[in-house]
Amino acid sequence: MQLNIYKDYNELSVHAANAIIELVKNKPHAVLCLAAGDTPRLTYSLMAKKAQEEKIDFSKCSFIGLDEWVGIPPQNEGSCRYFLQTTIFTPLQIASEQINLFDALSNDLEKECTTMNKKIIDKGGIDLMLVGVGMNGHIGFNEPGVPVSNNAHVIDLDEVTQSVGQKYFSEPVAIKKGITLGLNQLLQSRKAIMMANGLKKAPVISKTLEEEINIGMPASIIRKHAQGIVMIDKEAASALKI
Ligand code: F6R
Repeated sequence: MQLNIYKDYNELSVHAANAIIELVKNKPHAVLCLAAGDTPRLTYSLMAKKAQEEKIDFSKCSFIGLDEWVGIPPQNEGSCRYFLQTTIFTPLQIASEQINLFDALSNDLEKECTTMNKKIIDKGGIDLMLVGVGMNGHIGFNEPGVPVSNNAHVIDLDEVTQSVGQKYFSEPVAIKKGITLGLNQLLQSRKAIMMANGLKKAPVISKTLEEEINIGMPASIIRKHAQGIVMIDKEAASALKI
């Protein structure tokens, strides 16, 4: 695992955006799994801008959903789908055939998981998984204590996730369950980038990188990934002993 510390959020986002662009340039059929959330927001807008300016062709890529709030409809601005649609799919004119996201309104969520696991295999695996890290150390919705061997699964969200998650919604919502890819799929991806910025993430980053790898801090599992890159800004790095 590699650790890259950038001066600020802007520089971090420029590098993360470039990493996605470079991958797609070299592998037009890339399979991308990109997190929603505040952390990668600027990354995606810089990526979309650069892709348009440099005419980078995203038309052959596939997008795999990382996670979704169970029961939240796609048109809700707090849903991961809405976020990805507005920040990536619409600006880059990604066709619906290229998009493979969880249907969190399905009445058979187990089937959603099986279908997603199969899609990933059928597409030859994920080339790049770009994830954020939650205030409780989660990756996707892999909450503390989840088995590393998990593929896609439905999970009860812990209290930190339920309360921090309110920030994405314009009014309070019940977000008790999530559907998410598993840590096994993170480890199996050809490349994994974990991003974090800001002082509030500093304690989580210090536990992720400086304590023993343990499932109480799911983000620490990134250290097992040979092609894992942790990209953070100086503020998020500020509690590290290095
Ligand atoms: C979102 C996701 C979550 C977030 C994490 C950090 O798709 O998978 O794990 O990456 O909660 O969220 P932000 O970036 O809003 O701090």
